[in-house]
Amino acid sequence: MMIKDYLKNTIDNKWALGHFNFSEDDALRAIVESAAELKTPIFVGTSENERKHIGIKEAVALVKAFREEFGIPIFLNADHHKNFESVKEAIDAGYDAILADFSALPFEENVKMTRQSVEYAKSRNPDIIVEGELGYVRGESKIQTEVIEIKPEDLTKPEEAAQFVKETGVDLLAPAVGNIHGIVTNSPETIDVQRISDIKKAIGPDIYLVLHGGSGLSELEFKNAIEAGISMVHINTEIRVAFTESLRKTLEEMPEETTPYKVMSPSVDAMKKVIAEKLRIFGSVNRL
Ligand code: G3H
Ligand code: ZN
Repeated sequence: MMIKDYLKNTIDNKWALGHFNFSEDDALRAIVESAAELKTPIFVGTSENERKHIGIKEAVALVKAFREEFGIPIFLNADHHKNFESVKEAIDAGYDAILADFSALPFEENVKMTRQSVEYAKSRNPDIIVEGELGYVRGESKIQTEVIEIKPEDLTKPEEAAQFVKETGVDLLAPAVGNIHGIVTNSPETIDVQRISDIKKAIGPDIYLVLHGGSGLSELEFKNAIEAGISMVHINTEIRVAFTESLRKTLEEMPEETTPYKVMSPSVDAMKKVIAEKLRIFGSVNRL
């Protein structure tokens, strides 16, 4: 099945694709092994900085190798690419999907840059999936102790979403619906489920919604969001935390150990645990 077939299936059968970020091959291995064990298609993503760390060609080549080894659909996404040059580089390098994120710009500018990204992407690869972002999703992928206050004007308005998807030609839309990037410890993170279903109604059945900032949300919030029309959920911070917490513990427990793969291996297991739990919650198991 192609990406679009899976997306349609998420709506028909009320589940969501999992999208997990990586910046080095151990995280990628953890994501792919979890997905293969649970027989689920999977999205893996690199932000501009994550991509810089692993290398753009390396990311594409590794995903290709994992696909061949595990035989499951793995889709590589250029996550939150915020300028046209880097959008172009990811498309040219062979990414399967891109998030052309011009949400920091005023509406008309966001439309213009996103449309330009869609046109370039589809001219190079008709099967590529392009996501746009509308509204202000605050935070970043880390543990955030500061207070983050979501303002009413941050949230995506259904009628603007409809205009945005029509004028840009995107396949996917990332809305701001109360979600925050990162794990927030001193701010409420409540998903506006009604807004998700209003936006989904406004954009129509062929455009799909992506929930960003998945880390820290409860099982019930995911289930309600999926029920309301979310087709994909992004998780980053929770795997970053699993990785580093486990690594710290391992280094403390094995101060003499100098073999990299021996100190990394418990971190891979820790990430796999988080990923598998999310894939089960998203209803993504056995969807190959
Ligand atoms: O694009 C990445 C995701 O939205 C990550 O959000 O760090 O809160 O899981 P998260
Ligand atoms: Zn995001």
